[in-house]
Amino acid sequence: MDYKKVLITGAEGMVGKALQNILPTSKYNVISLPSSQQLDLRDRNNVQYCFNFYRPHYVIHLAAKVGGVKANTDALSDFYMDNIKMNTNVLEAAHLFKAEKIISLLSTCIYPDNANLPLTEEQIHNGPPHPSNYTYAYTKRMLEIQARSYNDQFNNNRFVSIIPNNLYGKNDVFHLEKAHVIPAIIRKIYEAKQKGDDITLWGDGKQLREFTYADDLAKLILMILEKYNKTESMNVGNTNEYSIKFIADVISKIMNYEGKIIWDETKPKGQFRKPSSTKRFKTFLLLEKINFNFISLEDGLKETCKWFEEMYPHIRGI
Ligand SMILES: NC(=O)c1ccc[n+]([C@@H]2O[C@H](COP(=O)([O-])OP(=O)(O)OC[C@H]3O[C@@H](n4cnc5c(N)ncnc54)[C@H](OP(=O)(O)O)[C@@H]3O)[C@@H](O)[C@H]2O)c1
Repeated sequence: MDYKKVLITGAEGMVGKALQNILPTSKYNVISLPSSQQLDLRDRNNVQYCFNFYRPHYVIHLAAKVGGVKANTDALSDFYMDNIKMNTNVLEAAHLFKAEKIISLLSTCIYPDNANLPLTEEQIHNGPPHPSNYTYAYTKRMLEIQARSYNDQFNNNRFVSIIPNNLYGKNDVFHLEKAHVIPAIIRKIYEAKQKGDDITLWGDGKQLREFTYADDLAKLILMILEKYNKTESMNVGNTNEYSIKFIADVISKIMNYEGKIIWDETKPKGQFRKPSSTKRFKTFLLLEKINFNFISLEDGLKETCKWFEEMYPHIRGI
């Protein structure tokens, strides 16, 4: 049997590892690209060589320079250059070497700062993104443009863009300054518990955010690979909203942390809420007769904390 070749960029990252775990090898020949140290996708020659060598049928483009607010703000030009080069090279090669389907990941954090809520897909380009991560946001918006332009010019729907909300899970980056909110809280609580310290978190903890477990996103990517063939980008993910304080309390409980959580209200709080609309995604599930249940936040956090405790300190960013 001739298996379809699925090439994953960023395969060693959080979503990449989750995807490798669930892609059925009985059906696909999975090509997992290594980390940036071994194959730098910012280099056009590397990317062209790799696509020429593997000639993948499907491409799942996950590689990106990703980080929390501080990482983005501290390195705006690095986030711009790394991501614009990687995205341009990968999509160009997928086009030149005639991949049949290419899935790219955008992010709900790239929506305009003053978008109407809930965030709907047609608003992506409607105004400036938040100043803290504007370079990451514009490169993701250009990724959507590049994908759409191939579809429009060559009259097909091979390039699909999906827009996940905040992700968390095993194999995330747990760097104290570069991490996203959930991994940062997990690490702070774990280390404070070892030392008998209290922890300090930014803001007042009241902000509401949506979170999707990386393993759930991996399952959705597989579904989209097999069933979604439209140019229109699509918000995907679990749209339940939770306050940062609630998350910190759940993690404290899971990790049996009894120290204090101090909220530093002098630090930026961010927008109060940024809910996304998954109307398009729900219509897709309905049309395809797919019944999808997201893992609860509590269970996703339990799995993530358990993994973290077992792996510590051999974890990205530590
Ligand atoms: N995490 C979130 O909350 C979130 C939310 C929405 C959308 N997304 C999107 O989802 C996708 C996956 O995110 P993730 O959280 O899984 O990120 P991640 O864990 O940081 O993984 C990203 C992967 O990209 C690789 N990469 C970075 N620069 C590279 C380069 N120059 N050449 C080759 N590979 C490179 C990284 O390798 P190294 O480790 O070697 O650098 C890593 O394996 C990304 O496109 C991201 O923008 C993420």
